[in-house]
Amino acid sequence: MNYRTLGRTGLKVAPLCLGTLTFGWQADEATSFAILDAYVEAGGNFVDTANVYAGGRAEEVIGRWLKERGNRDSIVLATKVGVKVGDGPNDFGGSRRHILAALEGSLRRLGVDHIDLYQTHYYDYDTPVEETLHALDDAVRAGKVRYIGASNHRAWELMQALWAADVQGTVRYDCLQPHYNLIHREEFERELRRVCLTYGLGVIPFFPLASGFLTGKYRRDALPESPRATGVQRRYYNEASWRALDALLDVASEVGASPAATAIAWLMHQPAVTAPIVGARTVEQIRDSLAAVDVHLSSEQLARLDAASPWNDVVTRPPNHPPRRG
Ligand SMILES: NC(=O)c1ccc[n+]([C@@H]2O[C@H](COP(=O)([O-])OP(=O)(O)OC[C@H]3O[C@@H](n4cnc5c(N)ncnc54)[C@H](OP(=O)(O)O)[C@@H]3O)[C@@H](O)[C@H]2O)c1
Repeated sequence: MNYRTLGRTGLKVAPLCLGTLTFGWQADEATSFAILDAYVEAGGNFVDTANVYAGGRAEEVIGRWLKERGNRDSIVLATKVGVKVGDGPNDFGGSRRHILAALEGSLRRLGVDHIDLYQTHYYDYDTPVEETLHALDDAVRAGKVRYIGASNHRAWELMQALWAADVQGTVRYDCLQPHYNLIHREEFERELRRVCLTYGLGVIPFFPLASGFLTGKYRRDALPESPRATGVQRRYYNEASWRALDALLDVASEVGASPAATAIAWLMHQPAVTAPIVGARTVEQIRDSLAAVDVHLSSEQLARLDAASPWNDVVTRPPNHPPRRG
């Protein structure tokens, strides 16, 4: 894989990040190890997890794999903090107390002495952003974190955090992890993309396959065998999604790639995107997704996919709106 630079940092990451939402949950430990091995064999070096995945078991599985393979130094390890982990009033959010306690828990489960990319999972309306940034700054100065990132932030929330970091002279967010895929575009493309391009943030989109919908295994009249099937049906069974999927299936057959690899390749071609986070329940699935690195889409194919996706139905662009690409 050809490594990319994460935003304005000097950090080099693979163009596909490995997601671990299924580890210790829908994928048992042996399968999780096999997925990690397949990813690294393909040249990957970037693994994303969170302290809440499978109640902390995903971090433990990764920790055991790192220890067994002895490869900690070659992996860029990303995890997250902020989602509720207990019933106490300080068991979630972006307070100094919770962040520093949760960081120790992640380090322990992962069996490492530092996290490469530590991300706040959500914006916390109850904690001043200055407090969150000072806690993250202390974590970096203590050598326990290398870079920080934000996930699920709105554009104004990200701008506020960038501004506060600048004013205070603390570490700043160098990466955004947004929900972004071919049928969920507006949330990122409307304003966040411009923020990331302007301020040099890396972008690592989650749900690149819309929880599996963009693999082509979902049909209008039938659901596949999947633990996610009913959720996918509720969220994506509508005409706009089918139209985008039909265009995806056409382009995929033209380029001779699977729909999953083609959907991920579409994301990799989008401005500001550093590395989509690919998730899998089986080794076959991760191999399929990793093939995206070899899928080249022409500008005509990209334009056809753009035209077929729902974003175009809901937004009217003013005539002087900046061009979509570049
Ligand atoms: N920051 C956040 O709030 C947030 C939220 C969610 C996820 N994430 C991160 O983003 C990562 C990616 O999310 P995700 O895994 O939900 O993304 P996704 O790519 O949208 O969905 C992955 C799912 O699609 C199905 N799939 C994948 N490849 C397939 C293939 N080739 N053929 C058929 N089905 C296939 C599998 O589900 P089935 O086989 O079960 O159908 C797999 O679990 C996560 O692992 C996590 O690290 C972050």
